[in-house]
Amino acid sequence: MINHLGWGYVMKIPFQNPPKTWMHDQHILSLFDYRCHTGNRNGTIGFDFPPAMRQCMHHLSSMDPPQITSFYGFPNDRLAEAFRNRSVDFLTKGFEWTLLHGQPTNAPPHRYKIAPRCCSLERIGNSRGYKCAKPEGPKMHQLPYGNPSTGANYFQIGTVRPNGRPANRTVVFRDWLNNTDQFTFITDIRSNKVSEVKENPYAEIAWWFPQTRDQFRISAKLFIITSTTKDEALQVARQQTWSRLKDPARQQFLWPHPAEPRQEAVDDSNLFEPEPPSPDTPVDTFCLVVVDVDQVDHLSLKGNKRWLYTRQQAEGESSYSWTKQYVNP
Ligand SMILES: Cc1cc2nc3c(=O)[nH]c(=O)nc-3n(C[C@H](O)[C@H](O)[C@H](O)COP(=O)(O)O)c2cc1C
Repeated sequence: MINHLGWGYVMKIPFQNPPKTWMHDQHILSLFDYRCHTGNRNGTIGFDFPPAMRQCMHHLSSMDPPQITSFYGFPNDRLAEAFRNRSVDFLTKGFEWTLLHGQPTNAPPHRYKIAPRCCSLERIGNSRGYKCAKPEGPKMHQLPYGNPSTGANYFQIGTVRPNGRPANRTVVFRDWLNNTDQFTFITDIRSNKVSEVKENPYAEIAWWFPQTRDQFRISAKLFIITSTTKDEALQVARQQTWSRLKDPARQQFLWPHPAEPRQEAVDDSNLFEPEPPSPDTPVDTFCLVVVDVDQVDHLSLKGNKRWLYTRQQAEGESSYSWTKQYVNP
């Protein structure tokens, strides 16, 4: 929360005052964790808001955005709309739901993944940085997901072609799957990668974050979620991802078959400007690809450090943990 609202957020913006170096250490303000102070064991707030805040939110909910704009003298209705949405959501859906799903939200690469609760901090050596004194073990949240200034949207993913040779391409990071360690990208069911994954579901991602100078090589198994996938939660994720796309991205799924020959001399632009499909129902060519990570090789060029993370999971068990090994770069 504080990351979003307070000083910690400001500190993470490089190339501005205060100096860039501050973003390398977690500022103590960005580590204060409200979940340690809710007065209940699971650290939730739910609907338990202070009376004055509740009153304020009722007041905001009772107005429409133009009324809020004029009441507070906001420069435009966008801010007022967000105030109103947040108030309504807090009151009707509770604090945790709103934190995860309330609108507006940043685009996925600019959103933070929720870190495990940490109620005890310690200073990092003599620096002004702090870290959690009792880390709950390495987790995927250590991927720099959601850094608002560097948020790298693209990664390269390699699969194996049926003839055993590698295939590699760039895709767009979409989101984490329901706040798990799995993340998603989208693709066309007709693309080569889909048939490659059917034969061999294993893939390796190379993801370079130029501003923080981190490389993540991610070993994973891929799951292709199509219109015929039975799992309800995955079907919901596919539908939500489709709805969040812009029209031009949705239209691509109605383009002619990828990689089929095309006549250069023929004006076929109409084939690539179809009517935008409905945002409510994904077309059959639209797939959500789930990246189920089992190993991460993190190389930090800042200081030349490297860590290997491996998922430890017993056969048939759903729970797992991560081991972390510090290795030579
Ligand atoms: C910046 C960029 C982003 C891309 N994002 C995606 C994407 O999210 N999903 C996708 O299927 N292809 C994406 N592509 C196209 C792929 O790189 C690739 O050309 C295409 O998917 C066909 O790959 P395949 O034949 O190996 O399946 C992107 C390309 C670029 C340059």
